[in-house]
Amino acid sequence: MRHFTNIIPAALLAAATAGAACAQDSRTFEVSLPLGPESHQAVGVHKFGEELERLSEGRLTIRPQYDNALGAEREVVEGMGLGLIDMGITSTGPMGGFVNDFLLFDLPYIFTTPEAAYSFLDGEHGTAMAAKLESEANVKILGWMENGFRHNTNNVRPLNSPDDLVGIRHRTQESRVQVDTWTALGANASPMAWTEVFTALQQGVIDSQENPVPTIYDVKFYDVQRYLNLTQHVYSPAPLMMGAQLFNSLSEEDQAIVLEAAAIAVPVQREASQRMEEELIAELEGLGMTVTRPDLEPFRERVQPVIEQWKDTVGAELVEAAQATSS
Ligand code: MLT
Repeated sequence: MRHFTNIIPAALLAAATAGAACAQDSRTFEVSLPLGPESHQAVGVHKFGEELERLSEGRLTIRPQYDNALGAEREVVEGMGLGLIDMGITSTGPMGGFVNDFLLFDLPYIFTTPEAAYSFLDGEHGTAMAAKLESEANVKILGWMENGFRHNTNNVRPLNSPDDLVGIRHRTQESRVQVDTWTALGANASPMAWTEVFTALQQGVIDSQENPVPTIYDVKFYDVQRYLNLTQHVYSPAPLMMGAQLFNSLSEEDQAIVLEAAAIAVPVQREASQRMEEELIAELEGLGMTVTRPDLEPFRERVQPVIEQWKDTVGAELVEAAQATSS
């Protein structure tokens, strides 16, 4: 009996130690998404999860939380910075509230093609912006996924020129630049969190919003919006992010795995986003939306003062570098 009492605690201790090491190395990250499981955002998050699991031999996994289940976009960014939320993909709309540089993505008609935006984001400027977000908001960008080019939808009339926006109550993201842009275009603009937009459109509190085609499809805006106007006024990145504190708490090996999984997932997500943008316009038409392709020149002209007004706040060099990608 004495013999056994000496052996059993030793065996239990060994098992417990092995269990503790294993528990320490295994981890499931909760990932917030503003959209659903079939969205272009989900394509990227799912690919990231798949690669994470493969590269870590099953130790690292994700649990996606769709349709803002963990909170609205601004709260999610704050939550990651405070260590309350592990990860998220969000549009950059609310991020100018954390770092002025991110207002760049709200300035209209800066990027004219996806390739121009990719070359900017994947180069020194994207890296510098990510570093600034990390030092000022404690949030690490793992990769620049995308929402894509944004377009207007409304329930009042097709937009053939900016004058058609007069009298339209338009929702912007929580960004002062976006409010100024839509005011300059002629709309009655007001900011609203993403989580409230569908209901506000349904109840007629607002008439109009703007988002990329795959988003318009994912959240079924065709049920509450009649007109899709391809205004293409901004390119909207959707960075995949992790709380910096959480990232720094991982082993060097796991940090490398997280970054590699994101690097593999980014082009897959962008490709899906571009394909969905192309395919879903016809689907939306089939679902009853009237699609208009306005001449963009008058829209561009109308918003030039907004770019001038915000250039110094965003950073003149940054704005010019972004503009240069399309010249
Ligand atoms: C918004 O309009 O607030 C966002 O584009 C939503 C999103 O990130 O899908």
